[in-house]
Parts: sequence; C-alpha cells; structure tokens
Amino acid sequence: MTRSVGILGTGSYVPERVLTNHDLEKMVDTSDEWIVTRTGIRERRIADEHTASSDLAYEAAVRALKKSGISAEELDLILVATVTPDMFFPSTACLLQDRLGAKKAAAFDLSAACPGFIYGLATGAQFIASGLYRYVLVIGVETLSKITDWKDRNTCVLFGDGAGAAVLGPVEDGAGFLSFVLGADGSGKDHLYIPAGGSRKPATCETVEANEHTLRMNGREVFKFAVRVMNSATDEAIEKAGITREDIDLLVPHQANLRIIDAAVEKLGLSSEKVVVNLDRYGNMSSASIPVALDEAWEEGRIHGGDHLLFVAFGAGLTWGATVLKWSESIAPSQAKK
Ligand code: ACO
Repeated sequence: MTRSVGILGTGSYVPERVLTNHDLEKMVDTSDEWIVTRTGIRERRIADEHTASSDLAYEAAVRALKKSGISAEELDLILVATVTPDMFFPSTACLLQDRLGAKKAAAFDLSAACPGFIYGLATGAQFIASGLYRYVLVIGVETLSKITDWKDRNTCVLFGDGAGAAVLGPVEDGAGFLSFVLGADGSGKDHLYIPAGGSRKPATCETVEANEHTLRMNGREVFKFAVRVMNSATDEAIEKAGITREDIDLLVPHQANLRIIDAAVEKLGLSSEKVVVNLDRYGNMSSASIPVALDEAWEEGRIHGGDHLLFVAFGAGLTWGATVLKWSESIAPSQAKK
C-alpha cells in the first residue's frame, strides 16, 4: 500500500431485547444445555418489529465517529456490509449517509456474509491507500432475526442482531493494516442460503407460505469448512504481514461457534486472554460480530498502541477473510472512554 491505513475509532450497538436459551426452550424443541454445549451461546439480542438494519448501523456509526474525532461531513465513503439490508434498494449505506448528514460521502453496500466487515475493511483501505479518499466509515450490521425461521431449531438458536462500525484513515508509517486475505468458493452456495425473495425465485404467497424467505443451513458442512478456513486464512494473513504467531496480541474471530473459535485458538497456540469472545451474549451477528467484539475489546482497554490484531471470519458464499492490523500508537486506549 502506498499510504498506511488503520482504524481511528470504533463503535457498536445492539438492540435492548434479550432472547435467552430458556426463552427458546419455549419456542422450539431445544435446551439451554444443548445450545451452550454445541455452540457456547447463552443469549442474543433481537431487534423489534420497527427496527431495521440502518437503525442499528446509525447508532454504531455515531459512536465510532465520536470516538475517532471525525465528523460525518468529513467522511468520503460509507460502506455497509450486510446480508440484511433495509430493502433491495436504495442501499442501507445511502440511508445511513442521509441520516448522518455525511454530505460529501459516496455510499454503497457490500454482500459477503459473515466476513463482510473484513471485505469492507479491505475495500475501504484501498481507497485511502491510493490517496483517493481520506476517511471511510465501514459498518457490519445485521438483523438476522428478520430472516430466521423461528420454528427451525437447527438455525434459530444461533443468530442475533447488532451493528459495529470503524472509521478508517491514514496512520503513521508501519502501522495499520499489514495484510488482507479474502477468499470465496461459490461451489458451497447451497450450504447457507435463502431460497426465495430474489430474482431467481421472486417472493409469492407460496414462497412465503413455505418460509422460503428464511435462511437454510447445512450446519455440519459449514462447521467443517469453518475450521479448515480459519486455520488457512490466519496462517496466510500472518505470513503476508511478515510476523509470526507469537506476535499476535489479540485475536478477534468471527463469533459463530465456540468450538470453531477454540479449534483456531489451539492451532495458533494463543492463550485465552488474547482472544475476544462475546458470542455467549450475542450469538452469531454475521458481519457485525467482529466489529462489535473489537469495539468491546477497545472499551475494555484490551488494545494498546503497537499491538498486532488478527481478525478472521467465514460465512455464506462460501466466503472467508482475515487481516492483520497493527494498532496505531496515536490512538491511546483511554481515547475509547471519551
Ligand atoms: N436443540 C436440540 N437439538 C438440536 C438443535 C437444537 N437447537 N439443533 C439441532 N439439533 C439436533 C439435530 O437435529 C441432530 O439430531 P439428529 O442427530 O437426531 O439428527 C443433533 O442435534 C446433532 O446435530 P449436528 O448437526 O450434528 O450438531 P452439531 O454438533 O454439528 O452442531 C451446529 C450444530 C451448532 C449448527 C454446528 O454444526 C455449527 O455451528 N455449524 C456452523 C454453523 C455456522 O457457523 N453458521 C454460520 C455461518 S455464518 C453466516 O454466514 C450467517
């Protein structure tokens, strides 16, 4: 990259309503014990019927802008990673641009499922590295509760709603994003998808009746793919960054399943205090998982100038992504408290 690009500030927001495993026991044939043992999830947040993805994104964005000290008017680009946009079009990014008053910002959505935030970081960083733009707001937001089949115990226990945001901008030489790994394997498209509602099978009374506007998942296949790709993507990102596993100060993995995270952590040889886990409280928030976890880690003072952070995610597509970020020295941990 020609110019070093890093994260200047983060923000996150989750809806107030908590849905616990015990609540789910009353809705489908499941148990708290099964969900905790198989996934590590204890509760998740659910948006109410009036709340859309752009509402969650707005709250996260305001917090990220405040913490970065950048105003909405200074933004050059707003990039929203989501598989649950408010509507087909206009993009959720455009809705947000208007609400934030980011008058000079371009805006578009990006669809890459759970690694969407990493895809967004990579895309936003290129604009800044090239000198075209100075400040880019990247958001991962989902209201997965709106596309969940609440009668399907295989999937409804896994997901939650939330939003996380990061303001990207120039940082000192040697800091910022040191590597990006992005990948896709569309031959796995049938492992995680929504059958109807798009141009292949437009929504009709019949598709709604058959619940085909909700997500379908082959959990076992996604699990095997996830464990494999978490290992290969992290190794590649570390190598490309020119560092070693021992240099990693904090791993911020996609929060889908504790067993998947544990497998990656064991392979990397990291101690538990170097891993951010919040899926017990939020479940899988897809593209919002990593930015929410990152924001919480920063708020908790777990990130310091010069630290090497590793993000890694996998998801529908199938897709994956990883990045190594050297946290800028000019962003003190205490700034998160502002
Ligand atoms: N409660 C009780 N029993 C259940 C539940 C539930 N909520 N869900 C499934 N079961 C049953 C199944 O029916 C099955 O019963 P059977 O053996 O009689 O058929 C049994 O539990 C075991 O099912 P498995 O699929 O073997 O369970 P597994 O240990 O693989 O865990 C899980 C399932 C949690 C879904 C796991 O496979 C997983 O996490 N996969 C990855 C999913 C993922 O990460 N998806 C998100 C991708 S990100 C994105 O883009 C949105």
